[in-house]
Amino acid sequence: MTDGILPRTSGTPATDPLTTRPLSDSRGPLGDEIRNDFPLIVSHPDLTYLDSAATSQKPEAVLTAIDRYYRQDNANVHRSLYDLAERSTLAFENSRRTVEYYLNAASHREIIFTRGTTEGLNLLAWSLTELLVKEGDILLVSALEHHSNFVPWQQAAFRKGAELVLIPAFKDGTLDLDFLKILETDGRADRVKVAAVAHISNAFGTVHPVRAISRWCRERGIPLVLDAAQSLPHLPIDARATGADFLAFSGHKVYGPMGSGIVWGREEWLEKMPPWQTGGEMISMVKPEKSTWSELPYKFEAGTPDVAAAVGLAAALNWMRETGVERLEAREHKLERYTYEKLTAIEGLTLYGPADPYRRRGVFSFNLDGIHSHDVAQYLDKAGVAIRSGHHCAQPAMRLMGIPSTARASLAPYNTQADIDRLAKAIIGAQEYFR
Ligand SMILES: Cc1ncc(COP(=O)(O)O)c(C=O)c1O
Repeated sequence: MTDGILPRTSGTPATDPLTTRPLSDSRGPLGDEIRNDFPLIVSHPDLTYLDSAATSQKPEAVLTAIDRYYRQDNANVHRSLYDLAERSTLAFENSRRTVEYYLNAASHREIIFTRGTTEGLNLLAWSLTELLVKEGDILLVSALEHHSNFVPWQQAAFRKGAELVLIPAFKDGTLDLDFLKILETDGRADRVKVAAVAHISNAFGTVHPVRAISRWCRERGIPLVLDAAQSLPHLPIDARATGADFLAFSGHKVYGPMGSGIVWGREEWLEKMPPWQTGGEMISMVKPEKSTWSELPYKFEAGTPDVAAAVGLAAALNWMRETGVERLEAREHKLERYTYEKLTAIEGLTLYGPADPYRRRGVFSFNLDGIHSHDVAQYLDKAGVAIRSGHHCAQPAMRLMGIPSTARASLAPYNTQADIDRLAKAIIGAQEYFR
């Protein structure tokens, strides 16, 4: 097992997770008909949507589940004894079980509903540093993090008088893990109390070597937080097999609704951690002089949850399972290789991230010689191609590359080779227009 990625077929020798695994799903490869599952894609035939790293489109199954919940099951959860409220509670808790099953968590007690990755990482940064960190300690993150996995740790370091230390990165968007040896040699490794890294970089698409990092952390008893916002949509994830202690992701990037998200954490850590927000049903007992907390996972779920969002998120994970996570991955990977070939063939285009197309997923960040990325994105929009331009909430990473911004095309299974042809044609059009 590598990087927490499930093997394609049981009994197959371990291979590079991103290369030679044969498709074992007897239904065979997924074709372009997968687009029919996405009403927005079907109703916008002239749109080439290449911004799925920002948010994914939603399959019909998710829209139906949310609609059905509000039409048939809506009531507050965990509070009332009448039938409707029990149905709502069941819908919420069944959604938790779906996530538990999807991530291969040890129990439903390890699954916390949040509003998204950012909220999940704020929860973890606050609670873990309250539990573990004192003045002079070190919080370890990478130089390539999304601000959501950077600023909460930076602010926690300020609060605790701790130091934020960055794992450096190379110009190709990969991490310099030799830095971990330097931390050992100069004695700083002993001061590291928490580490947090992205599984896949949203800025460059790099798949980081999570198993290597988690091994290093495990040997030292350092809890590792994985920002899985960009990996859940692209890789089958077994949470425990990553070796991490926590992971956070957003529902809206994985075909679910906005306002939904998950923190998975190992129960032994969650038990010890203090709640982040207080109030509502997260209590066990409240007296003027003190309060005590509910059991896991409710200790971390203050206030009325977004039940419909949880139901929608579970429907999205079920849609992935039923469609076939392997088939989705294989389809995407084929398209990624096509995109890589197409983009690297364009003169005057600098593609960021690893040169090895097998060490990257989903994201193609690029710049065109002499043209600002905003101009590129605007030109592409006129050609019907929706991409993102900017620093992608990763200013430290951009600074490291010595660039203010990139244009970023990001893929999902509803994209086709025709989308990529259109992207390449529009890029060449932009080069001619701005020449
Ligand atoms: C790697 C990564 N982490 C965190 C986030 C934040 O996700 P959200 O805005 O859904 O909280 C994103 C969003 O783009 C991301 O790509």
